[in-house]
Amino acid sequence: MTDGKSRPRTADHATGVIVLGAGPAGLVLGNILLDHGIDCVVLERAERAHVETRARAGFLAANTVQILDEHGLAEGLHRRGRMHGTCEFRTGDGRFRLDYSGLGRKELHTVYPQQDLVCDLLTRFLARGGQLRFATEALAVRDADSERPAVAVREADGRPAVWRARYVAGCDGRHGAARRSLPAGTVRHHRDHGVTWLGLLAQAPPSMDAVGYAVHERGFAGHMARTSEVTRYYLQCERGTTADAWAEERIWDELERRMRAREYGPLRRGPILQRSVVDLESDVLEPLRHGALFLAGDAAGLISPSAAKGANLAVLEAALLARALIDALTSRDSAGLDAYSARCLTHIWRAQEFSHWMIGLLHGPSGRDGESLFHNSLRRSRLASLRTSRSQQDWFAEHYVGV
Ligand code: APR
Repeated sequence: MTDGKSRPRTADHATGVIVLGAGPAGLVLGNILLDHGIDCVVLERAERAHVETRARAGFLAANTVQILDEHGLAEGLHRRGRMHGTCEFRTGDGRFRLDYSGLGRKELHTVYPQQDLVCDLLTRFLARGGQLRFATEALAVRDADSERPAVAVREADGRPAVWRARYVAGCDGRHGAARRSLPAGTVRHHRDHGVTWLGLLAQAPPSMDAVGYAVHERGFAGHMARTSEVTRYYLQCERGTTADAWAEERIWDELERRMRAREYGPLRRGPILQRSVVDLESDVLEPLRHGALFLAGDAAGLISPSAAKGANLAVLEAALLARALIDALTSRDSAGLDAYSARCLTHIWRAQEFSHWMIGLLHGPSGRDGESLFHNSLRRSRLASLRTSRSQQDWFAEHYVGV
């Protein structure tokens, strides 16, 4: 189509809610809106195949499962997910297991690869007639302070288009268009934790029946099962390390060294399928609402993977936003929308605080100066409390499993 001046005419679309991004936040939100008859569209920059195969997190907290259950979105995770109730710390002072299911807590984690959850959400949304445009990149959100905000997009065929709606949900992550379109006054809390992890996905069965945290003078190492054949490992490395810097042999040897394989048994090795380097950082935007534009998931705030809270916060925020949008659009009750930002920030900061505590527990300076020695002695004391104090274990379990 052209507008007579041989420029492609901008296609115009309209709907009730535009959801930017088909990750956990966007797809949970889209499914709940669709189930309540709200006219919405999900605009996703990537192709479907990329969205469905992107390996990310895989640790669902009990109340995340409850939210998914409430909205009929948990069928896949109940069928293929596996319950987890134990984490194992390996330190210079020995090994101890924290069986939080044994602490009288009925809530456990469900281990379920995020790409499987995203596939479930995507399939269900489309099967129920949901509107989802792949390879459609949001470029900017405009007129957010009006009642007809607009999203400028580049469509799959490269043509420009504009989508208009009553509300826009920015679920397009930390680099998405929603964040780029925020007004100057938005506050961004930010912390670079100064730690870098080499993230590995190995074609190998889990090496233990727990989430493993190795606290070692050479650096942190982590072990998280994903399925019975695939295991996620993390190796703390120098800032600036590239994903392919370490040969596989060296990776496994270093993992075994830090996991103290000599005392506790070898790791089950296999080909490394995926590698990524992540600098642990966190940020939180405030407020999470700007007129008709709302942020959820990583677009609202980034949390380090140290306590596996990211996807769980994304699902919680999506459910809170869905409820508020439905009330506003079906009964003209905007109380939920007015309270959205404050409600989410309470949960976000609690999750940030625990993730920050975990980073301090698992990582420390390698120097022999007084400051480093003091810091590392504090960590040893915290670990000893976690091993011996029931009240410390209860506090840990409440924050570790909850969001
Ligand atoms: N236009 C459209 N889509 C976009 C754009 C854009 N400009 N930019 C990003 N996207 C898409 C990405 O391709 C991705 O599919 O937005 C989606 C964002 O998904 P996630 O990054 O998974 O973010 P979110 O849904 O907030 O989930 C966050 O899940 O991945 C885990 O633990 C991780 O904390 C993270 C959590």
